[in-house]
Amino acid sequence: MLEVLRKRRSIRKYQESPLKAKEVETLKEMLLRSPSAHNNKSWEFIFVDDRDLLKRLAEVRAGSSAFLAGASLGIVVMGNENTQDVWVEDASVASMVGQVAAAAMGIGSCWVQVRNRDHAPGVTAEDYVRRLLDIPAPFRVLAIIGMGYPAEEKAEVPIEKLPFEKIHSNRF
Ligand SMILES: Cc1cc2nc3c(=O)[nH]c(=O)nc-3n(C[C@H](O)[C@H](O)[C@H](O)COP(=O)(O)O)c2cc1C
Repeated sequence: MLEVLRKRRSIRKYQESPLKAKEVETLKEMLLRSPSAHNNKSWEFIFVDDRDLLKRLAEVRAGSSAFLAGASLGIVVMGNENTQDVWVEDASVASMVGQVAAAAMGIGSCWVQVRNRDHAPGVTAEDYVRRLLDIPAPFRVLAIIGMGYPAEEKAEVPIEKLPFEKIHSNRF
């Protein structure tokens, strides 16, 4: 697990082959094992592997989301704002659990931020995704996690490059 965390990087270039069904099932299982506030499980997920939908999702935020067009899978991570005021935290934790689980299976992934971002002037990224995928209220969209077998290699960040000054001891 520590080696997986050390080596994990955001991967935005993917091979064309689809993920194995067993791996997709494992991703689902791991997402559903994510911790959540009061164990409310305020999250919901849409697994998108339809090529046309992935291309349309890639347009949600132009440059920041373009890589989704080449992903084998996009996991749309949502939260129910009626059942949990900290749905953002619940959904963020699940997103990261999904990314780490993917890395452990040799699957590359990268987060696309949707919440608090715009698709176009006057249209939020959330509204774009909601309309495209028929997501009803009260579900909010946090992010889309693009996944696929890596077609790029990224080196582990050397320990000397980590900003240890951000870690304080006892008091700030
Ligand atoms: C909250 C959050 C939002 C992010 N949004 C995007 C995004 O919209 N598009 C993108 O390509 N990467 C996005 N990323 C990935 C970051 O750019 C990436 O994690 C960061 O550059 C560090 O690189 P690494 O993951 O390889 O260590 C996001 C990551 C996080 C945690």
